[in-house]
Amino acid sequence: MKRARDTDIRGALEKASSALFPNYRQYPVVIVRGRDCRVWGSDGKEYLDFVAGIATCNLGHTRPEVTEAIKRQADEIIHVSNWYFNAPQIDLAGLLTEITGLERVFFCNSGAEAAEAAIKLARKRAFETFGPDRNLVVSLHGAFHGRTMKALTATDPKHHLEAFSPYPEGFVHIKPGDIGALRQHLPEACALFLEPIQGEGGVRPMDPAFLREAEAACREEDVLFILDEVQTGMGRCGATFAYQVYGVTPDVLTLAKGLGNGFPIGAVLAREKVAAHFGPGSHGSTFGGNPLACAAALATLRTLLAEDLSSAAGRMGKYFREKLNSLVDRYPAAVEVRGEGLLLGIELRVPAAPVVERLMERGFLVTVVQENTLRFTPPLTISKGDIDGLIVSLEDIVQSLGGASE
Ligand SMILES: Cc1ncc(COP(=O)(O)O)c(C=O)c1O
Repeated sequence: MKRARDTDIRGALEKASSALFPNYRQYPVVIVRGRDCRVWGSDGKEYLDFVAGIATCNLGHTRPEVTEAIKRQADEIIHVSNWYFNAPQIDLAGLLTEITGLERVFFCNSGAEAAEAAIKLARKRAFETFGPDRNLVVSLHGAFHGRTMKALTATDPKHHLEAFSPYPEGFVHIKPGDIGALRQHLPEACALFLEPIQGEGGVRPMDPAFLREAEAACREEDVLFILDEVQTGMGRCGATFAYQVYGVTPDVLTLAKGLGNGFPIGAVLAREKVAAHFGPGSHGSTFGGNPLACAAALATLRTLLAEDLSSAAGRMGKYFREKLNSLVDRYPAAVEVRGEGLLLGIELRVPAAPVVERLMERGFLVTVVQENTLRFTPPLTISKGDIDGLIVSLEDIVQSLGGASE
């Protein structure tokens, strides 16, 4: 791999910081290449990637099956309007409905768009079934559903900047686990919208009993039970979808991130009778379901299933979790390990951002959620050796934090 000169790298970083919107807090690294669980900066530095584009490149970077599918499709046709069908979209819809049992799919381009579509679908269904008064969307404190206005309103209120006001009406947040509050709101609700594990909210799994009770309560009141599996889906939590781990079944399911292994695509799946409320002209997207994105997602899903990477995520997640737990057992600065499969977090007694920087110096990419938690979302192809490598460095750092605040 060609290494850029220091002056070129500095030039690129200066250009980036003067030309791009300043909305991201970015590390001064230009990533130029990725292979499986590793990526390289333009300076040639190698990183073991425990971010994977934030739970997105689940098969690893530049997975040949996906790259080849993109190349092949790009040679045929890149985009077709949804006025017409396209073959990869039909095949992907067929496979997704087959493995979920949900009969219909709508394709979009991101997790936020999937959330937006799911909320609009729930509103329209309730309007057409019960009239205009059952429009409340119940979501959870700690939730993250994306940055469009409806998705953001369903997200935890701490993300609601006053400057974006006014927010859409008809949303309420309850505490995870508060079945009483849920029951109170259900008579006015069109949907309960939640993540099986809150990723951005600090890697916080739902209590399985709450999920099952919530599902049953929604069915009793004829309210849609919508799961956001944008982060937890596509094998990440040890099953193709996390709802299979928890033993619940959504009426509507939102997907994105890992669906295209890095190629942008989102999807909303729903039962036949629910999807029927999105008749012609009700909702749409120019790029949604475009052949290139669907070819990438089809290759991703076929490979995920053929290689049973969900089970690999379950096994490696167990190994990884044991290693993280041993840090909690031995060092006071480490508080708790949470998560499922390869969506794992370790909460520290101190802010996690400096730890991420130190890990990065040592060649590991990791993210922070909720200030004190390190989140790990590597490709599902990660090996024990690679996990061990991270743990050695993390142990050094956690040890150096001493008793933290105790
Ligand atoms: C659970 C969940 N839903 C929705 C989103 C939004 O997805 P996107 O950034 O693709 O709009 C995210 C992003 O982190 C997410 O974690």
